[in-house]
Amino acid sequence: PLVLVVNGPNLNLLGTREPGTYGTETLADVEQRITVAATRLAVRTEFVQSNHEGVLIDAIHAARGRASGIIINAGAFTHTSVALRDAIAAVALPMVEVHLTNVHAREAFRHHSYLSDLAEAVIVGAGPLGYVFALELLAGRTAAHEA
Ligand code: DQA
Repeated sequence: PLVLVVNGPNLNLLGTREPGTYGTETLADVEQRITVAATRLAVRTEFVQSNHEGVLIDAIHAARGRASGIIINAGAFTHTSVALRDAIAAVALPMVEVHLTNVHAREAFRHHSYLSDLAEAVIVGAGPLGYVFALELLAGRTAAHEA
C-alpha cells in the first residue's frame, strides 16, 4: 500500500517558522519520522509539499488509482480552499487531516476546515507525531480492506 503525504503552504519553513508555535523539527525531520513508521507498518509513502494550491490539487488527482490513502496538512488552505476540498472528494480515497497545532485553541479563522467532514480522522495538536498516528490509522484501514 502507498500513502500520499501532502503538506501545504509554508510547511517547507518548518523548523524556522514560528518555532514557538510549530516546533524546531524541519519538514525533512518530520518526513524522516514518517518514513521510519512506514517501514515498521510495511506501507510505502510519497511526499509532496507545495505553496501552490494547483500543485497540491494535481498531486491529489495523481494519487487516484495509485495510493490507498492520503495524509494532508493543507496549512492555511485548510481554512480557505473549496478547490482542495473538491479534489479530495473527487479522488474518494481515505484521508486523514493533520495539523501540528491545536487549531481549535488558536484564532477563530483556524477553527473551520473545508476538509474535516471528508476526513476519516482529524488529528490536531500532536505535533509531528500526528502524521505517524495518521499513518497508523491508514495502514490499519488498508490492511482491513485488503483482508
Ligand atoms: C497548520 C495550522 C494552520 O492554521 C496554519 O495555517 C498552518 C499550519 C498546523 O499544522 O498547525 O500553516 O496546518
